[in-house]
Amino acid sequence: MPLIPMYQCLKEAEKGGYGVGAFNVNNMEQIQGIMKAAREMQSPVILQASRGALKYTDLTYLKHLVQAAVEQNPDIPVVLHLDHGDSLETVKTAISLGFTSVMIDGSHYDFETNVAISREVVEYAHEHGVSVEAELGTLGGIEEDVAGEVKLTDPDQAEEFVARVGCDALAVAIGTSHGAYKFKAEPKLALDLISEIYRRVKIPLVMHGSSSVPKELVDVVNAYGGKIENSFGVPIESIQQGISNGVRKINVDTDIRLAMTGAIRKVLFEDPSKFDPRDYLAPAREAVYRLVAQRMKDFGSAGHAKDYAPMTLDDMKAIYKRA
Ligand code: G3H
Ligand code: 13P
Ligand code: ZN
Repeated sequence: MPLIPMYQCLKEAEKGGYGVGAFNVNNMEQIQGIMKAAREMQSPVILQASRGALKYTDLTYLKHLVQAAVEQNPDIPVVLHLDHGDSLETVKTAISLGFTSVMIDGSHYDFETNVAISREVVEYAHEHGVSVEAELGTLGGIEEDVAGEVKLTDPDQAEEFVARVGCDALAVAIGTSHGAYKFKAEPKLALDLISEIYRRVKIPLVMHGSSSVPKELVDVVNAYGGKIENSFGVPIESIQQGISNGVRKINVDTDIRLAMTGAIRKVLFEDPSKFDPRDYLAPAREAVYRLVAQRMKDFGSAGHAKDYAPMTLDDMKAIYKRA
């Protein structure tokens, strides 16, 4: 099937009461590992690319790698999503490459500016049948660097924001942050905010910064010469609680980075004479597969690939026109 719109994916997830993992991709091995997991788990999947990923892959490589993934996996519903788009320009680039979904992240602006730039993106993207994720509230981590403060999503503001912007999904800030160092000790998340926001906005919610930073993965990195200390992620049970209260898209990047790095370090540490990249990239790809397959089970999307009668961007244009 062709790439499907995020709108359809998250609506199906809402019906089925599960969450869909949105996995960051930057190269062939990550895409292959994720697609092997989707195939074996029979799960829908969201492949997402950040601005950094677009730059790293020089746009065209990413586009064709994802096309290869779709061609090789005709039974799997796949969304191609822009992660943390910063402007209409970036969104236009993604849409011209064939992305079926974009994020506009105006969360570090004041409320009115965030509404204005998000609305502008919704108008452009919906004309092209492309789904839009917007964000309100600030996470820690990289967004903290930009904003200089962390602000959880306010349910009143969220209701007004979604009504004025008309986005298809809303990323909320509930205390997670990007990267491997989310919490200094046991994680504290404002999970009660999720049900309150969902009750008001009635559109699928997105959890960023949702890597769990599993100790097993960190231990492998450290056992073979790495140095990652005092890192705590989001417990799977917290994500599952989010899913029962309206979270439908769960962003995972850091866990993939950890899985790959551990696998590569292990090969090179155990046999320093190795220099064929395939010797360490193949185990790295398998590590991505194992992690993502587990997340598809954790988030409940496993077994749902067959539920989809794929919708096109033209179908979506008609839906948006009627709205
Ligand atoms: O939200 C950030 C994602 O983990 C992407 O990271 O900008 O380094 O590609 P990146
Ligand atoms: P992690 O750093 O927790 O994997 O979060 C990734 C993310 O939110 C991408 O947008
Ligand atoms: Zn993010």
